Amino acid sequence: MTISDTVTGSQGAVSITGVQKAFAGRSRKAPGRQALDGFDLEVRAGEFLCLLGPSGCGKSTLLNLLAGFSEPDGGEVLVDGTPVTGPGPERGVLFQTPMLFPWLNTLDNVLYGPRARGEKGAAPRKRATDLLQTVGLADAAASYPHELSGGMRHRAAFARVLVNQPRLLLMDEPFGALDAITRAAMQRFLLELWERDRMTVVFVTHDVEEAVLLGDRICVMSGSPGRTRAVFDVDLPRPRDLEMTDTLEFVHLKRQVRESLEASL
Ligand SMILES: Nc1ncnc2c1ncn2[C@@H]1O[C@H](COP(=O)(O)OP(=O)(O)OP(=O)(O)O)[C@@H](O)[C@H]1O
Ligand SMILES: [Mg+2]
Repeated sequence: MTISDTVTGSQGAVSITGVQKAFAGRSRKAPGRQALDGFDLEVRAGEFLCLLGPSGCGKSTLLNLLAGFSEPDGGEVLVDGTPVTGPGPERGVLFQTPMLFPWLNTLDNVLYGPRARGEKGAAPRKRATDLLQTVGLADAAASYPHELSGGMRHRAAFARVLVNQPRLLLMDEPFGALDAITRAAMQRFLLELWERDRMTVVFVTHDVEEAVLLGDRICVMSGSPGRTRAVFDVDLPRPRDLEMTDTLEFVHLKRQVRESLEASL
């Protein structure tokens, strides 16, 4: 099964216009924050967009708005032209810590979403087992999360999101806590998956190299409130691999993005 069986590269377009988001303060010593103030961002259907910015500039706030976990105070958050009004399976979210239910084995974790939506019959099970194969966890279908390695847990969480056939993947520093080798393996895996299925991805990272390796475009934010400081086109050929990080073009772009990021601190 591929996501493109049901979703074409023409879905998952994001349009964020003039978005305002403030958080109320708890006291005079902890005043409120304007996290986003008139933020604009367009992401094309099937595009891989990376968001970089200093801590506290509003990246997670933005992802939460897109996921439908919170609402903007003003402005518009549209996915495929429709305002986001709450969470939905067509928008998959992956956090730094993989979200798995400890009391369910890997297969049942992956099947949780389809079952919760009342999907019946053999189709969801077939989708889930095919996906476990894709993410290299076919042999771990009966294992529980505590029996999986860190990288395996990430792949299981991935499968759990992908089983819903999302048109938009929202990733908030998904590999930030991983060791260098597992992280490289996850980056490779994500690239292969995206090359194959071309869902829209909004990927938050602190790592400039990761952004250049993965993204079609990189939006560098400054804060606070969060604003777009610069947008870079990543004109590097695809498919990409880690060997590319040594090329002159890669190093040059990485330096430009890093300078922009440092200037936004
Ligand atoms: N639930 C909340 N209540 C109050 N303030 C919040 C809340 N969530 C975020 N903020 C504030 O909004 C601003 C943006 O936070 P956000 O989490 O979006 O930053 P970020 O760019 O994701 O940072 P990081 O890179 O550290 O994850 C910060 O000033 C933060 O303190
Ligand atoms: Mg964050």
